[in-house]
Amino acid sequence: MSDNPLRDPQDRRLPRIAGPCGLVLFGVTGDLSRRKVMPAIYDLANRGLLPPGFSLVGFARRDWAEQDFEQIVHDSVKEHARTEFREEVWRQLAAGFRFVPGDFDDDDAFDALRRTVQELDDVRGTGGNYAFYLAIPPGFFANVINQLKQHGLADAGPGSWRRVVVEKPFGHDLTSARELNQMIDEVFPSGTVFRIDHYLGKETVQNILAMRFANNLFEPVWNSHYVDHVQITMAEDIGIGGRAGYYDGIGAARDVIQNHLLQLLALVAMEDPVSFDADSLRLEKQKVLESVVLPRSLDRATARGQYVAGWAGGEKVIGYLDEDGIDPASTTETYAAVRLGVETRRWAGVPFYLRAGKRLGRRVTEVAVVFKRAPHLPFSATATEELTQNALVIRVQPDEGMTIRFGAKVPGTTMEIRDVNMDFVYGGSFTESSPEAYERLILDVLLGDPPLFPRHEEVELSWRILDPVLDHWARKGTPEPYESGTWGPASADAMLARDGRVWRRP
Ligand code: BG6
Repeated sequence: MSDNPLRDPQDRRLPRIAGPCGLVLFGVTGDLSRRKVMPAIYDLANRGLLPPGFSLVGFARRDWAEQDFEQIVHDSVKEHARTEFREEVWRQLAAGFRFVPGDFDDDDAFDALRRTVQELDDVRGTGGNYAFYLAIPPGFFANVINQLKQHGLADAGPGSWRRVVVEKPFGHDLTSARELNQMIDEVFPSGTVFRIDHYLGKETVQNILAMRFANNLFEPVWNSHYVDHVQITMAEDIGIGGRAGYYDGIGAARDVIQNHLLQLLALVAMEDPVSFDADSLRLEKQKVLESVVLPRSLDRATARGQYVAGWAGGEKVIGYLDEDGIDPASTTETYAAVRLGVETRRWAGVPFYLRAGKRLGRRVTEVAVVFKRAPHLPFSATATEELTQNALVIRVQPDEGMTIRFGAKVPGTTMEIRDVNMDFVYGGSFTESSPEAYERLILDVLLGDPPLFPRHEEVELSWRILDPVLDHWARKGTPEPYESGTWGPASADAMLARDGRVWRRP
């Protein structure tokens, strides 16, 4: 804890409970709302972290009565909530449900929304405090934001707040991201815009900061003197499922490298922030993103692929081009890999390899910091044949924890050294299960706590990094096929082999 009385204004161990407020959810019928947002709201209520009068207003183009909306939330909670279903919690929460039917360009519907919000202020004591959650395709962002402005919904009255929550994609390149940010900023002042990158809500991702800055053990070796390279992997075994409409034309790099993986890189590479307040934390991440450079030859330092038929979980699966709703001539990549440099004193010369893909061997997200070999090994060459490089692996999911790989003597009468692993497993050290990322992030929105939400500068810098790669790939045309259930295209292996390295097979 800091000795500085200007910091640590509150004891962070106390549960943080949102004050009087409500949330208006646009896109209640979407996958994200059903699978993540609505269950997370219930889980927060169940943990006693929402105010008693909390209200949830659904807005959608459906001819629904209030009971239909309640049923939809009920089903999604039953199916996807993390915590147990408790009737009394549900009843109290459901008393604050309202549904407003309408199109996003329907003035009457937004008038009805304003009246609903006012009514809830009176009967539920929400105090005029509202978050507007845009879980909708980006093509509708401008409509909704302008409607909120025109109908006076974006203006907080004295002593109350209005916030907007935006889901990705934040544009599809730097220019469109700038336009989007500008449009939102014109209506909602910067401190009231919350851009969701759900990876930042994950416990294991926040633990990168704890691991780095709460310990003295790792920081001395966290630099180019000791680190050989860093591999950041987000592998999924699922295919595109029912998300063709969103994914085709977007692809792996825009879908997850632009946001999740570059945020992970920023957390791994950043300097220690002055404190964990939003400005200090985001400033340090921003500095990393500003320092990221692409290699000169994008052909040699990037790879992309598209899955074809193969196996997943013991079952035969079809290829991307045969999935429902995918253009059979699509050149969208389902696998992307890129080598980046971070031009700072700490990291110059250390490659950061990022890769993400669908239909890979298994679902795993991890950050592996791979260390240089010891400068001198006073053993015979055969004694160290099975010793590779030391590594520190942050297992983001699914097997949350950390592994340190180092060499140890094999028991016996000869000196033989082999890699061994030292493991930290969340389940073994903590009794509490980790909250879902969306629980943490929604609570932070309602509390007005922004550190875990990327600032618009970070979003734009990430596009600045990726745009040349995307342009390069667009010029090249078709991505390389890879069989479902494997670890991606051969060009990805070749990309590392050129640097004398190999991808981890987690
Ligand atoms: C989303 C991507 O942001 O993250 C999806 O749009 C991806 O394509 C998902 O499947 C993975 O999230 P998680 O939390 O399961 O790693």
